[in-house]
Amino acid sequence: MPRTTFPDVTRFEDVLLDYHRRADKMHWSPYDLVEDDRMREIARPERLNEYQVGAVKTVLFVEDHLPGYLSEYLRIMTDPTMPDDQQIASRKVLHFTFRWVAEEDRHAHVLEMYLEKSGLVKPAELQEEMLRERKTAYMFPYDHDNKMVEGFIYLALQEKATHLYYRALARDIEEPLLKTVLTKMGADEASHGAFFYDMLIESHHGNLDALARKVSAVAQDFKMPVQQNLQNYRRQLLGMMRAAPSYKHTDVLADMMKAIDRAAQQYSRDSLHLISPDLAPFGG
Ligand SMILES: [Fe+2]
Ligand SMILES: [Fe+2]
Repeated sequence: MPRTTFPDVTRFEDVLLDYHRRADKMHWSPYDLVEDDRMREIARPERLNEYQVGAVKTVLFVEDHLPGYLSEYLRIMTDPTMPDDQQIASRKVLHFTFRWVAEEDRHAHVLEMYLEKSGLVKPAELQEEMLRERKTAYMFPYDHDNKMVEGFIYLALQEKATHLYYRALARDIEEPLLKTVLTKMGADEASHGAFFYDMLIESHHGNLDALARKVSAVAQDFKMPVQQNLQNYRRQLLGMMRAAPSYKHTDVLADMMKAIDRAAQQYSRDSLHLISPDLAPFGG
């Protein structure tokens, strides 16, 4: 059986284009967001409790696994033993990957700058903690047996989980500058989630029931991002949940299922149009 990395790339070229446009327009810089004047005038770090500071550090450690997972993706996506068509598809998708990892990198970067500039942590101590957390290897959980679709579903759920978590944490804290930082980060995560949803949905056109079944199977094992890579992850995860009580992990799966359902309704309206072009969808 031939090895594959991606679903047929011609089926989601528009999805790639949408993401590239969106990413280029959504650009923001950590240097603008946490520059010294804004730290002085807007930031109120003393309003964060111990759990909230802990949660920001955990989010930073998770985001800071980027160098590890980037090398994993590059290893998979530049594998010269792949069939030619897969290598061509991988190169197209790398335009996405490079934008995506740049966005993840600015999440780690902005939180590192925020924690240091706010005086919440000492720079040398933070660097030591980050180094310790980064040392645990990141392994992509689905790089075997042609399980790439499951891998993309897992990524879609992770992106949605980070989107919903950052939104909840922004809502549950009283620190205005950190609220802004988390809202920017959350918007990026929403855009990443939308890319994986759209890519999976487009490549399962006509077969969305199968996609929904795979999503529920992957969701059984789904955890918060790179949770198993963190030191004392149970304690860190508990801290994250205490810091943002309005986050509901079950909303992650529900959100993805809703997107598939919406697409199914959309597609059935499309096919109705094809069969009988005069028949407009009811109410539409
Ligand atoms: Fe991120
Ligand atoms: Fe993301």
